[in-house]
Amino acid sequence: MPTICLIAGDGVGQEVVPAAADAIASALPSARFVTAEAGWDCFVRRGGAPPETLAAVQSAHATLFGATQSPTTGAPAPGSQSQVPNPQPPIPSPQPPTYRSPILALRRHFDLYANLRPAKSILPGAPPIDLLIVRENTEGLYSGQESRTGDTAIAERVITGKASERIARRIRTGAARAQPGARVTIVHKANVLKITDGLFRESCLAVARDYPDVETEEMLVGAAAMWLVRDPGRFDVIVTTNLFGDILSDLAAGLIGGLGVAPSANVGAGPVAVFEPVHGSAPDIAGTGAANPIGALLSGALLLDHLGEAAAASRVRAAVQQTVDDGVCTPDLGGRASTSDVTAAVCRHVREAK
Ligand code: NAI
Ligand code: MG
Repeated sequence: MPTICLIAGDGVGQEVVPAAADAIASALPSARFVTAEAGWDCFVRRGGAPPETLAAVQSAHATLFGATQSPTTGAPAPGSQSQVPNPQPPIPSPQPPTYRSPILALRRHFDLYANLRPAKSILPGAPPIDLLIVRENTEGLYSGQESRTGDTAIAERVITGKASERIARRIRTGAARAQPGARVTIVHKANVLKITDGLFRESCLAVARDYPDVETEEMLVGAAAMWLVRDPGRFDVIVTTNLFGDILSDLAAGLIGGLGVAPSANVGAGPVAVFEPVHGSAPDIAGTGAANPIGALLSGALLLDHLGEAAAASRVRAAVQQTVDDGVCTPDLGGRASTSDVTAAVCRHVREAK
């Protein structure tokens, strides 16, 4: 009986995580759910995520995470608050030094070094896209090491050979394994970032030499962005550093219908794995019933795959496709259905497929 930890978080996370849990329960009735708290709202109420959250993630077979809200710098424009239904939280002054995005904290704590972001077309008439972006999840420009002295602000871009090698190896082994015949594209900017991306590139190419049967190429990140738009079908697996992977996977999400449909997985060497839609807390639509649950539903399918429940995962994916083909879609996909309409349709198709 697998135990799944649910962390809904803030904003639309509260809407899409229960939707995905319903679909998982329909596909795998033996699943048991526990819930845990994290996010900005939890921080405001409790001063931070309680220790039980880490314990729940640690002891679950897998975790489904929604999204959390992080205050950004820069106060909202005067008057803008009244026009936005769910504005960004105001910037506390001074900003609490201890708030850090919980998903970053989870990735760091459990060393979930690989962020797998598949992008596959599901919309009728969309160009054929079926690619996997594998993003290094623990270092790069997300090192958390930023400083400012007067007029100069510096972010440290940390790249290690160890982390680069293990992400490059990850795509040859385990769930994210490049399918036979797939081409791996190493994406970097080593022409400018000669030392940091030089090391990333060197490490990835060294791993590639151990797998002569997998076609490997390299590409500068700007060219990769251009080719993703012009001919996304030419890519199978992209492996890249943290920030480039974040940006390119949002771009890829745009090609398959937007952030609302993009799933992801955070995995490491250990048993802990955290699955989450790529999108954030979407404060502009939170509470309106317009959130697309598909990114979370497909993250649930990745979670089922991780549990070894491939048949249940396929049922969820097929049910999502059937629902989209029937035109039951939220407004971001041009439809008029609500989060719960889409969820109900998906759960029905999952049950019918048994
Ligand atoms: P966002 O992903 O929340 O929203 C970007 C746009 O996509 C918005 O127009 C939103 O309405 C739309 N969108 C997002 N999810 C959708 C869904 N399920 N269905 C339909 N439309 C959807 O990104 P944004 O606005 O940059 O950030 C909002 C907050 O989310 C910020 O506080 C940010 O820090 C946080 N965030 C959290 C992430 C996480 O928890 N992993 C990831 C990205 C952002
Ligand atoms: Mg997310």
